[in-house]
Amino acid sequence: MLTAYDYSMAHILDSAGIDVLLVGDSASNVMAGNNTTLPITLDHMIYHAQSVVKAVKRAFVVVDLPFGSYQGNSTEALRSTIRIMKESGAHAVKLEGGAEIQESITRILSAGVPVMGHLGLTPQSIYKFGTYTVRAKQEAEATKLIDDARLLEECGCFSIVLEKIPAELAKKVATEVSIPVIGIGAGGDVDGQVLVMQDVLGITHEFQPRFLRRYADLYNVITGAVSHYIEDVKSRDFPNKEEQY
Ligand code: KIV
Repeated sequence: MLTAYDYSMAHILDSAGIDVLLVGDSASNVMAGNNTTLPITLDHMIYHAQSVVKAVKRAFVVVDLPFGSYQGNSTEALRSTIRIMKESGAHAVKLEGGAEIQESITRILSAGVPVMGHLGLTPQSIYKFGTYTVRAKQEAEATKLIDDARLLEECGCFSIVLEKIPAELAKKVATEVSIPVIGIGAGGDVDGQVLVMQDVLGITHEFQPRFLRRYADLYNVITGAVSHYIEDVKSRDFPNKEEQY
């Protein structure tokens, strides 16, 4: 699973064979330049999801319900989900949290919409945590996380994302539940992995968490290409005779 927020990138990822595209609310950070995921709205998420869905031929598209669109009550959660499904054509939604949002999850599932859970570091709760460091290192939080994972499976979630927790705990969760567990900073003993595409490609080059493996250095590739273009335009090398009508 990888994140995608726009048509062009989603087209490349889908053609490359990715199974799941996540229209993550990390769009708030990497697309809109916010410090947290909190400001992104339901309308923004629908806009990103529409662009991704148009590009996809085979991948399963999951869309994050943004902060404030589901925590209030289950009616609002369902209303937000229905907007995403109707207006974007996506295939499923993802919500952050466990027991606290059980009613919303159950209501969304009862409307026939597949739900992916998200436990561990849940960035929409950043002001409760106060930091983006590894979650569930203490026994009480680890126990609640395992209980929440079991609950999400019992409710009918089709999968769970585990973000930034100890690898041993993620392994335990993956053996406790039978639905696929997708990790980000949760080690290799889970069923799948997810990363933010801009991190994978080295576009967000200042962000260097330990769990991230970069597969390209696009920051420098793009900087080089743009500098070259500026040079060529200024020197009137571009456009040449073959590049004009
Ligand atoms: O919004 C997002 O990109 C996510 C992933 C980090 C799992 O939720």
